[in-house]
Amino acid sequence: MTKAVCPGSFDPVTNGHVDIFTRAAKSFDEIIVLVTANPNKQSGLFNIEERMDMIRQATSHIPNIKVDTWGGLLVDYTTANHVGALVKGLRSSLDYDYELPMAQMNRRLSGVDTFFLMTDEKYGYISSSLCKEVAKYGGDVSGLVPDHVVEAMNAKFRK
Ligand code: PNS
Repeated sequence: MTKAVCPGSFDPVTNGHVDIFTRAAKSFDEIIVLVTANPNKQSGLFNIEERMDMIRQATSHIPNIKVDTWGGLLVDYTTANHVGALVKGLRSSLDYDYELPMAQMNRRLSGVDTFFLMTDEKYGYISSSLCKEVAKYGGDVSGLVPDHVVEAMNAKFRK
């Protein structure tokens, strides 16, 4: 059985992420969306449970997907769970520069390979941070994140 992990902060999940999960699920028997702590980012808008719930709701159309979380090194999770692949989306050369050293480090540490899917052009400019910034100041992010995520962001910012 081929298993792949899609790791990330997902604070919150966007339609670009969901597109990558949907496409990855066609190439692997099981996809695990792994909500991980990024030591370089401050504590997020949503807690880990909220992020996982939003991902579960956004991926209910994908039968071979599960959502999990991990607080340590990514490669410790992949090794312990016999996962041979990581899958990530690439929007631009900025992503490439950010992702290449992580992919190489993860491969050196454990042998796990990283597979990159080119982001659909519809979603090339979307990021969780940009959507949060727009929503924070009352801008409309519908169509960029799932509808339930729009509502959750509005609820956080209007509180
Ligand atoms: O969505 P992000 O924040 O860009 O995801 C980055 C993430 C979570 C994949 C990266 O920070 C990560 O792998 N964190 C787990 C800790 C780890 O393994 N660090 C070494 C990476 S080479």
